Amino acid sequence: MNSASTRYTKTAVILHGVIALIIFFMFFLGWFMHEIPKEAAKQASFDLFNLGVVHWNVAEPASPRTFYFNLHKSIGITVFGLILFRIFWRITHTPPAMLTSYKAWERKLATGTHHFLYLLMIAMPITGFIMAINSKYGVMWFGLDLVGGLDNKDARELFKEVHETVGFVFLLTILLHSLGALKHKFIDKDGTMKRMSLH
Ligand code: HEM
Repeated sequence: MNSASTRYTKTAVILHGVIALIIFFMFFLGWFMHEIPKEAAKQASFDLFNLGVVHWNVAEPASPRTFYFNLHKSIGITVFGLILFRIFWRITHTPPAMLTSYKAWERKLATGTHHFLYLLMIAMPITGFIMAINSKYGVMWFGLDLVGGLDNKDARELFKEVHETVGFVFLLTILLHSLGALKHKFIDKDGTMKRMSLH
């Protein structure tokens, strides 16, 4: 067997890493922005997460809540684009066959988890997007107006619940996926992790 058939392509590995990092960041941002009080003065510059590392100037002064909500929406839409490209790549590039050492239940669990993760990667941005267009603010992408808000309170509330619930299920599934990867590295000590790395 040549090495190409035992590992994921470089593009798949990079997409896996970049999307994973952005999704972690989106969870953090989602929880962070949730805590920001509604009443606050508008600012033209933001110290990102109050860490004193990145200072972000905005064209139009905004309240901290608006700034972080817009950032969450903009990055969410961007990662959705990357996720769609990843799915296209997955369909057009057959992944390497699983190691022959895997037991039948491991194959089923791994395949099911991977497919479910793809579903959640689609559901998370879409439910966020539906919630956002039903708010009175609508959706902007890094300052560019995409869609105006419908101001439909019931639909917004419903999709807020759905977005949060999908997020909870997503976190549990990511945990299962990561535990599986760690089991292969430290208990089975097989080559699973290497297949999804660049060297
Ligand atoms: C992979 C993509 C995404 C992830 C991981 C994610 C994650 C989260 C999390 C963890 C929260 C906090 C929920 C809570 O308070 O318990 C949140 C809230 C929110 N998300 Fe997302 N999100 C994603 C994509 C999007 C997109 C694409 C949009 C809209 C275009 C969006 C709009 C919102 C809004 C408006 C809230 C605030 C709800 C509120 O408190 O009123 N999200 N998201």
